[in-house]
Amino acid sequence: MLIDKDAVDLYTKSAIVHDKHEYPSEHMVRLIKWCFKNNGGRVLDYGFRFGENLKHLLDKGFVVDGVEISEHAIDDCYHKIRGIHNHRQICKLHLLTSDMQELPFDDDTFDYLISNQTLYHYSYREETIHNLLSEFKRVLKPGAKFIVSLISRDCNMSEKHKSLGVHSVMWYYNEGEPQPVYVIEDETHLRNLFNSFDVEEIGYWKSNYMNVFDFHYVVIGSNKVREVGR
Ligand SMILES: C[S@@+](CC[C@H](N)C(=O)[O-])C[C@H]1O[C@@H](n2cnc3c(N)ncnc32)[C@H](O)[C@@H]1O
Repeated sequence: MLIDKDAVDLYTKSAIVHDKHEYPSEHMVRLIKWCFKNNGGRVLDYGFRFGENLKHLLDKGFVVDGVEISEHAIDDCYHKIRGIHNHRQICKLHLLTSDMQELPFDDDTFDYLISNQTLYHYSYREETIHNLLSEFKRVLKPGAKFIVSLISRDCNMSEKHKSLGVHSVMWYYNEGEPQPVYVIEDETHLRNLFNSFDVEEIGYWKSNYMNVFDFHYVVIGSNKVREVGR
């Protein structure tokens, strides 16, 4: 399985809440500049939601494909980027459905990939994460760079949370449905998860205000270059 049906149902409902999300993530702005050098190329933004980071990529001259499981996110994002010259030529947004076995791209398509705060929401089954990572590997060119953030077990964005065992936590919000999430235990766990890529750096960001303790790990790396003859 590539996409959990539960995730599609949850995000189809939750993304109806429109929000401008005007500004890109400061972390992503810095990392995109440092790691991708703002040199242009084709990028996959996996799970773009309101599209603020995707718009930043377009502003910096990248050609972008965005992937989402929520139709509302696709409408909102096209609305957000509509003022950009040629936006339908330089940006394509794709809806994933739970019956898809693979991402809708050819092998070796992308020079870069970002996935910010996405690879854990309802993807709480480790098998789903592994399937997605193999697809990332397939659609990235050899040597293509990526920036992926995932949450730490210590992150707490909901009113209450309960451990569901290995790498999994249930978050309970005041409103909305309980949400099972896939969590990272430590750096070793993250390195093991990405062991089919060349990991260049593992870092994190943390903040604590408005009753939210945010603790995201970020993994920066590249797709392995294939050996000649393989
Ligand atoms: C917390 S938002 C992050 C959005 C954006 N990347 C950002 O940095 O603000 C997570 C988004 O991932 C999408 N999503 C969740 N599970 C997904 C999956 N398995 N495949 C693709 N998108 C997914 C949701 O629809 C939601 O819009």
